[in-house]
Amino acid sequence: MSAIGFVKVVCCLFLSCFLLACNPPTANQNEYDWKLPKGFPSPLVPQDNPMSVAKVALGKKLFFDVKLSFNQTTSCATCHQPQFAFSEPKKTAVGSTGQKHRRNTQSLVNIAYNSNLTWAHSGLNQIEQQILIPMFSEDPIELDITGHENVVLQRFENKSYLKLFENAFDDSQVNFDKIVKALASYVRSLTSFASAFDEYAYQGNDDAMTDAAKRGMELFFSEKFECFHCHGGFNFTQSSQHENQRLDLRPFHNTGLYNVDEKGAYPIFDQGLIEVTLQPNDMGKFRAPTLRNVEVSAPYMHDGSLATLDDVVEFYAAGGRGHGAANPLKSPFLAGFELELQQKQDLIAFLQSLTDQQFLNSNLNYQLETP
Ligand code: HEC
Ligand code: HEC
Repeated sequence: MSAIGFVKVVCCLFLSCFLLACNPPTANQNEYDWKLPKGFPSPLVPQDNPMSVAKVALGKKLFFDVKLSFNQTTSCATCHQPQFAFSEPKKTAVGSTGQKHRRNTQSLVNIAYNSNLTWAHSGLNQIEQQILIPMFSEDPIELDITGHENVVLQRFENKSYLKLFENAFDDSQVNFDKIVKALASYVRSLTSFASAFDEYAYQGNDDAMTDAAKRGMELFFSEKFECFHCHGGFNFTQSSQHENQRLDLRPFHNTGLYNVDEKGAYPIFDQGLIEVTLQPNDMGKFRAPTLRNVEVSAPYMHDGSLATLDDVVEFYAAGGRGHGAANPLKSPFLAGFELELQQKQDLIAFLQSLTDQQFLNSNLNYQLETP
């Protein structure tokens, strides 16, 4: 890798670690062991829901339990499956009653650091808020709890759950506030920092990445390919916040996937950030997702409309898809580039080096709860 390329990687990826040295974590956050590699900043956690091992344990059981859905068919893990980095192979999600969700299930990787949640929302900043959507939303219906609150709550009034509630909250009473807090703690605990890339970049193991992946990394961080502008930082997304950095770079971009009216419109059923901000310039803007474990989270994009990493790389080389390439609201970083076959393979090899087998395996030993 060239000297300039290396400096860039170092600057992009290590900035947060340098800052750590002069800004130690608060005592409160020290109590829970995040099991982060040395030098990584701890995520920020809401004051009223500090992390604890007992809360994570309760949250994990709830996450995999179909009793959380009114008709007892669906758990969080039905859509967020561990072996797919907590996403699923479906293009778009389907709720417990069969109602279709318009969006692709997001992977849940290092989301404790996310400053914006979901594919396109600038005001949804807390996991505790976000979790209310799959639980209580009526359009689309996901877990279908609304109108069935008591029935669902009663299912957790049994010995093994009461014990877990007691451990987590010093009080065995079952309510939705506790359920949400425990679920939030569990999904926050899903950290992934043991990919080949991590070994190479942070643990100093020069042999951890293949030569192809190293060449791909250089392309990823190049001004020609531009990937790092939007997929920057240690999570390969701009929308990270942690204890050492509160700067909020706006992480939403129009990547030229659509252009239905030649004036930049996305299809009416999903126009991205504009639906929340009502700002015309936010048409088609979505959050740049993390690329950690992206190899296993196909299909891609907010609507699952790109099937493979090959398709994604070709899409960026073309500077958008079909008429989308001429979308007037498209990010200037989506200019497109010439792509040789070898470069495509290298870039994909780099993306594959972000797969953390330890993370995928460590969450496989769950037990799916059935009614
Ligand atoms: C029917 C499938 C489905 C179920 C069930 C489901 N989710 Fe999701 N989840 C999604 C989809 C789709 C998105 C993206 C939503 C969007 O962008 O509007 C998402 C997004 C999320 C996010 C945001 C991730 C990020 O990076 O911003 C979190 C956190 C999350 N889900 C947690 C949960 C939890 C906890 C449960 C159980 C209470 C759950 N989900 C149940 C499909 C599902
Ligand atoms: C202008 C910012 C920007 C640039 C530059 C950019 N991306 Fe993205 N990327 C995004 C956004 C935004 C999305 C989600 C778009 C959507 O769903 O509409 C995305 C999605 C992806 C996905 C799909 C991830 C998933 O979970 O669905 C991959 C893979 C990806 N980008 C890789 C790359 C690579 C490789 C490059 C460089 C060739 C690159 N990106 C350049 C912003 C960018």
